[in-house]
Amino acid sequence: MQADLTGKAALVTGSTKGIGKTIALTLARNGADIVLNGRNQDHALNVLEDIRGMGRQASFEQADIWNYEEVRRMVDGAIRKMGKIDILVASGAGGGAPPEFFNKIDPELYLDVVRSHWLSRLYCVRAVMDHMIERQSGKIIIITTDAGRTPTPRESLIGGAAAALVLMTKVIAQETARWQIRINTICTTVTKDTPGYDYAMADPTSHIYRIFKKAEERMPFGMNRPDDIAQLALFLASEDSNQITGQIFSVSGGLSFPG
Ligand SMILES: NC(=O)c1ccc[n+]([C@@H]2O[C@H](COP(=O)([O-])OP(=O)(O)OC[C@H]3O[C@@H](n4cnc5c(N)ncnc54)[C@H](O)[C@@H]3O)[C@@H](O)[C@H]2O)c1
Repeated sequence: MQADLTGKAALVTGSTKGIGKTIALTLARNGADIVLNGRNQDHALNVLEDIRGMGRQASFEQADIWNYEEVRRMVDGAIRKMGKIDILVASGAGGGAPPEFFNKIDPELYLDVVRSHWLSRLYCVRAVMDHMIERQSGKIIIITTDAGRTPTPRESLIGGAAAALVLMTKVIAQETARWQIRINTICTTVTKDTPGYDYAMADPTSHIYRIFKKAEERMPFGMNRPDDIAQLALFLASEDSNQITGQIFSVSGGLSFPG
């Protein structure tokens, strides 16, 4: 699809690779100036060059989005460089612990999963909120996993953290609609050409390999590509979706049908 994001500034977290990178490039192709984020600036160089090659402004904010102070610095830096943030896409930083039956997950890892799949998103949303309230406008798009909507064995913790995001999306949407802020969440399943996919496929003896393989076999439309998620993100970032907030979308290739 196409949208006119000319003059809009978007901050896309976890955007040096994978789904976040494809979303950043897609928003730029449709006119937005972009602030990229990751933990390593070197990984952003090609993406910065691609975006500048489209005639858009592009910059990079180094921050670990598991850490609120770093997220605040990232948001302040993005506002300083672009003058504003119209669009926040909170993606990336997936991890924390490999999928495993709940009785086998070391409780020492719980907080890492919560930081990765839940707090990282909340920190980003919270950090842009005052700015968006002041401007009485903003589009927020959260990327998470469909395990937050569809009970998935070995993903109790990851799914629980994503389910919390699903509920919070709806509550925050109700609270912030008065300030013309829209927030929606995209839940994805296995997606090719991403760090998450590469990690899962690296070891054929691992549980995550089997989960991804099983999902792939059951997806009637085939496996997701990053662009499948980026197209929906573009719509949600655009004015064409102004009547939509607090909604949860699954991009799952016909695998899941959450209510
Ligand atoms: N890839 C999949 O198959 C899949 C499946 C289900 C859900 N998801 C969802 O999609 C999101 C994106 O997935 P992905 O596989 O493209 O990438 P990912 O989650 O591995 O993120 C990669 C990007 O995040 C950055 N990053 C990693 N840790 C970070 C940190 N602590 N702070 C800041 N940046 C950090 C990396 O530099 C890179 O740019 C996931 O976080 C998850 O919510 C992906």
